[in-house]
Parts: sequence; structure tokens; C-alpha cells
Amino acid sequence: MSAGAAEMDLAAALRDAGVVPVVTLTRPEQAVPVAEALLAGGLACVEITFRSDAAPAAIEAIRARVPSLLVGAGTILTVAQADTAMAAGASFLVAPGFNPAVVDHVLDRGIPMLPGVCTPSEIEQALARGLELVKFFPAAAMGGVAFLRALAGPYPMLRYVPTGGITPENAVEYLALRSVVAVGGTWLTTQDVVAAGEWATITGLAADAAAMVRRARDGAAPRPRDVRQPG
Ligand code: 3PG
Repeated sequence: MSAGAAEMDLAAALRDAGVVPVVTLTRPEQAVPVAEALLAGGLACVEITFRSDAAPAAIEAIRARVPSLLVGAGTILTVAQADTAMAAGASFLVAPGFNPAVVDHVLDRGIPMLPGVCTPSEIEQALARGLELVKFFPAAAMGGVAFLRALAGPYPMLRYVPTGGITPENAVEYLALRSVVAVGGTWLTTQDVVAAGEWATITGLAADAAAMVRRARDGAAPRPRDVRQPG
């Protein structure tokens, strides 16, 4: 079962956002204010992790009340969690590793999935299923930008969402790579900020992240005034 059009749509949406906030909520009631705060800052997607029981209800609440935010489910380790996430309405699923049973189960249902990879062998498991968009985790610990540059030779078709150790400071380096559609991270929605209900802080961090994405992309592409005209 290949990933196909759904994967391409997801890649385009994630590229538009540039940053995927990774959020663990302890209570489903936190979901809508977090989603609205991210959207107000200019980020149109979120990954709600299955590290807490609040995840399915949080995803349902965001789908119902903040429909313009693209909501994915993260830390999907089992087929049962995948089923729960899809039933809750997650638009895409994310995992830290490559579990073939989970990946095949999700792709068979036509939902895009970003399994985690950090070796060429895992990348080839993804390619064998027609998947060209994956999570690179844990990005910083596994060699970061240098690792992705080295992979571009044998795997020019691969696209990544690096996550794990991404900060506002190092995100620009990742986003400058052609192979990176977006970076993921918890820095916008830390447990302390969410627990304290500091929604304005999240909006400010999201706005900073959105501005950083624009800067990174402007830096990567030649600006019109830098392009030499022939003759
Ligand atoms: C993830 O699940 O993707 C990571 O836990 C995020 O890592 P970070 O906390 O380093 O951003």
C-alpha cells in the first residue's frame, strides 16, 4: 500500500506551516485554547501526542471547534492507538520509530503516517511502502543537519520532519535544507506553559516560529535582486 496523494497533500500542508508543535495535554479541555493560541500566532498545525489519555478527546475537540487547524496524532506505538487516533479524527499519524505493523495498518486505511526513522535501513522500509515523508527522530542526537545532508546522496526523494532537540535557534539550519518540509518540537507548548494556561505565551512563541520559518525560507531561495539577468 503506497502513500500517494494523501502524503503529498500532507507534505504541502506541513511545508506551509514549517513548524509542527508537538503537544502533550493532561486534560482535553486544554486542547481548544492551545489550538486557538497556535492559530493566532500563525501556525496552522499541531501534533497531539498519545503520551496522555487526554489525546483522543483533545483531537476530537480540535476537529470540532478549531477546524482550520490541521491536527495529527503523535507517539503512536500500537495498532490500537492508531485506531483510536483515526477514530478521533486525526488527519495524520506520527510515530517515534518504524513499526511495520502500525505503518501498514494506517496506510491501508488511507491516512498519512510519518513513521520515525534514524537509519538508512528504516528509510528503505519506508521507501518499500511508497513512503517518502518521514519523521527524523531524535534529530539532534542522531547527527542533525549533517546526517540529513549525508542521506541526500542515496535518497534524494526523501522528505523529513526532524524532531527531537529542535530549538528556535537551530531550526533555521534544518529548514534551509531542501529535504526538510517542517521541523517538530515541544518548545512552543511546554508542559509548564500548558498547565499554567499561558495561552498568550503560546501565541507569542508561535508568531516567533512563523517569522523564523519565513526568514529561513527567504534565506534559502535566491531573492529576485540577487539573480543576474542574462546579457
Ligand atoms: C517528539 O515526540 O517528537 C519529541 O519528544 C519532541 O522532542 P523535543 O522535546 O526535543 O522537541
